[in-house]
Amino acid sequence: MDRPLILVIGATGTVGSELVGQLADGEYRVRALVRDPAKASFSDRIDVVVGDLAKPQTLTKAFAGIERVFVLAPPVPELEALEANAFTAARETGVRHIVYLSNFGAGSFAEDLWQAHGANEQRLRESPMSWTILRPVRFMTNTPYGWASVRDRGLLIEPHGGRKVTMIDPRDIAAAAVVALTQMGHEGKTYELVGDALTGDEMAQCLSTALGKAITFVDAGEQETRDDLLRSGFPASIVEKILFYFRTLREGRWYETSTLGELLGRAPRRYATWLQDNLARLADQVSS
Ligand SMILES: NC(=O)c1ccc[n+]([C@@H]2O[C@H](COP(=O)([O-])OP(=O)(O)OC[C@H]3O[C@@H](n4cnc5c(N)ncnc54)[C@H](OP(=O)(O)O)[C@@H]3O)[C@@H](O)[C@H]2O)c1
Repeated sequence: MDRPLILVIGATGTVGSELVGQLADGEYRVRALVRDPAKASFSDRIDVVVGDLAKPQTLTKAFAGIERVFVLAPPVPELEALEANAFTAARETGVRHIVYLSNFGAGSFAEDLWQAHGANEQRLRESPMSWTILRPVRFMTNTPYGWASVRDRGLLIEPHGGRKVTMIDPRDIAAAAVVALTQMGHEGKTYELVGDALTGDEMAQCLSTALGKAITFVDAGEQETRDDLLRSGFPASIVEKILFYFRTLREGRWYETSTLGELLGRAPRRYATWLQDNLARLADQVSS
């Protein structure tokens, strides 16, 4: 019997592109939903379908014949509606299982993004479909957020209040999604996914080793961090979201879990490994 066809939404993004590759490597049948076919640089084995979560009429064809789907939306103000459109299309086309990329702190952190994730987790819990919710912590791809001070002053400026930062390699989020999409026993489960937990000094040490130059951690206040993020090119609205996120860190609400290693059956990837595996990308960051 054919393996079920798995639809990946967000297939050109950080997690989704990894997920498409890992599913294809595992010989699973994959359909990738893209908005712009010009961005679909997948292997021939991937069934590419054009669709847009903001245009529900485009989703019926994309979901046809799908048994399992991975759902995410980018962190935009419309996230809740975009993901809800995916859930509706899934229900209407007979999808059996949804793996949903939520966020650590969903429904509990008092900011729109985390509240929207919480609302969509609730939608899934009330739906007749089966589901698995993945709540990853800070992506290593966003660690640090801004590179201006690392590049220009050899400083890692973040407001940790002495707390350890939890983080995760997006490749491991994709690996967890593969498990939840292809194995039984994950229905109705919410997984808080943590890959590594480091102090600011330990993060700076990892960066120093990867970049081959001394980086010093500054456990900064909000204004110093705000200035640094603005200097790194973030829009003011995103800067305030990042500062909010760090407030939850200083409140002690980022904690470690062993769930990821248990799901994957191996140790999660460490921050030092992510840096070593992304040296070309780091070189771009510190040269730009
Ligand atoms: N970054 C973090 O530290 C972090 C931590 C925990 C959780 N999260 C969660 O992770 C999620 C984002 O994942 P990511 O970083 O992998 O995303 P991403 O890299 O921003 O990629 C977003 C993907 O969604 C697609 N997309 C955007 N709008 C769409 C639409 N209207 N219809 C269909 N597809 C659309 C994009 O396609 P195009 O190529 O067409 O733009 C792209 O493939 C968010 O829900 C966020 O809350 C992030």
